[in-house]
Amino acid sequence: MIKNERMTIVHQAEIAHNIYELTLKGELVQEMTPGQFVHVKVGDSFEPLLRRPISIANINKETNEFTMIYRAEGRGTSLMALRQTGNELDVLGPIGNGFPVDACPEGGTALLVGGGIGVPPLYELSKQLNARGIRTIHVLGFQTENVTFYEEQFSALGETHYVTVDGTKGTKGFVTTVLDELNPDFDVFYSCGPLPMLRALEAYYPEKPGYLSFEERMACGIGACFACVCDTTDKHEKDYVKVCSDGPVFPKGVVAL
Ligand SMILES: Cc1cc2nc3c(=O)[nH]c(=O)nc-3n(C[C@H](O)[C@H](O)[C@H](O)COP(=O)(O)OP(=O)(O)OC[C@H]3O[C@@H](n4cnc5c(N)ncnc54)[C@H](O)[C@@H]3O)c2cc1C
Ligand code: FES
Repeated sequence: MIKNERMTIVHQAEIAHNIYELTLKGELVQEMTPGQFVHVKVGDSFEPLLRRPISIANINKETNEFTMIYRAEGRGTSLMALRQTGNELDVLGPIGNGFPVDACPEGGTALLVGGGIGVPPLYELSKQLNARGIRTIHVLGFQTENVTFYEEQFSALGETHYVTVDGTKGTKGFVTTVLDELNPDFDVFYSCGPLPMLRALEAYYPEKPGYLSFEERMACGIGACFACVCDTTDKHEKDYVKVCSDGPVFPKGVVAL
């Protein structure tokens, strides 16, 4: 159930260029699952009015803390980067369906493919897959080295490959460059990132089950407006889906890419 809470900032740090790691404490954490997101009111005034949707990257139910990783680029996220330990943030969540962890058989292998600010939700997903005895392969794509993060954390969970467009870290190219080289054997793929990447993955693995998480522009975040609507493929029973309330994760083949 979606709830509203003023959560306390227990940690905020810049972990790469304009990339922030923000940990919050509060009761909402008990409801969170991987692939869901929160809708954050970045300041205490009316401006900016709209909340910002940010994925849940790490959940710690024992301490009641969760972590988000976000890029400070526009007005809202830049304001959020100024908030300090001890401040409170107004958080709505957890929102959305999340990744189906049980779609991968126990003892199987999951391929996790992320691009840029689509990488964070894959971290908690990988933790939970590993906890079920599932082997994870991570392929993580970024523009350039100085915006990469969490190499140690992902590597501790499984085989991890970085790829950058300019070749400053890992393989030079796109996530598909690494997938061509690796030709990985896996049971299910999970992905979050820009649309061209999601489109490429669907085309690469037509025979495999796969789940895609979308980062569509949002307004209300709770299914009440139509800001996040996406067309579906003609195979699907509805003409459109709302990414916030029907997603953000969809089985491959549902959203028209
Ligand atoms: C489900 C979901 C999960 C996300 N998870 C993350 C994450 O973990 N880390 C991260 O860095 N970013 C994430 N994003 C993208 C993030 O929400 C936008 O980068 C952010 O809202 C931009 O706000 P701003 O203040 O920087 O930009 P502004 O330009 O000031 O934003 C103006 C408006 O546009 C909306 N907007 C702008 N870009 C986006 C976008 N790409 N997606 C959605 N709304 C947008 C804002 O919410 C706001 O309403 C996620 C988006 C969605 C939908
Ligand atoms: S953001 Fe309003 S319906 Fe999805």
